[in-house]
Amino acid sequence: KNLAVFVSGGGSNFRSIYQGTLDGSVHGDVVVLVTNKHDCGGAEFARERGIPVIVFPKRKDGEKAFSAEDLVIALRSYNIDFILLAGYLKLIPVELVQAYPKSILNIHPSLLPAFGGKGFYGMKVHKAVIESGARYSGPTIHYVDEEYDTGRILAQRVVPVLANDTAEELAARVLHEEHKLYVDVAAALCEERIVWREDGVPLIRSKE
Ligand code: GRF
Repeated sequence: KNLAVFVSGGGSNFRSIYQGTLDGSVHGDVVVLVTNKHDCGGAEFARERGIPVIVFPKRKDGEKAFSAEDLVIALRSYNIDFILLAGYLKLIPVELVQAYPKSILNIHPSLLPAFGGKGFYGMKVHKAVIESGARYSGPTIHYVDEEYDTGRILAQRVVPVLANDTAEELAARVLHEEHKLYVDVAAALCEERIVWREDGVPLIRSKE
């Protein structure tokens, strides 16, 4: 399967998915990377490995805006099967959501539907979790719809929130699970192990 990964930052999730495609745990290829920040760590990593990088919505020279339609056309040209958002901080345009039904996933660093939605990103999520007194947190991978963090939940992992955690410590613990979870989910996608329950909830079938 052909994967497009979207990043805005360091791209550690992207790196672990990419590593999964190299070591055979993910039966797919990252064929294109999309970013809104042309010089972010994830984009640099991709360029170093010869993975094409698309800057969306603006190009590096700022000359011509890359429209949502342009992006759909570009992704079609790469024969994309799935789009994996990995620390991509912009809302996905509706054109893309409609062009790739049931094919776009995002990772969020809390147990959705708690601590999600617009405004909950980065360290803000972990600070809010700690302030709430919640004893557990962890990443959620969900399908992407036209809002922030509201699509169907596909997979979650739980990590403890420790009594004296700082937001940074909690973030690191969650991120460690994110990397493993995204590789497992990408593997399931590529092996067509997602089944949709009658009520619309997606489930991952375990390997035989
Ligand atoms: C992750 O915590 C992800 O859940 C959030 O942004 C962070 C991205 O980290 N949406 P990285 O760029 O994959 O290192």
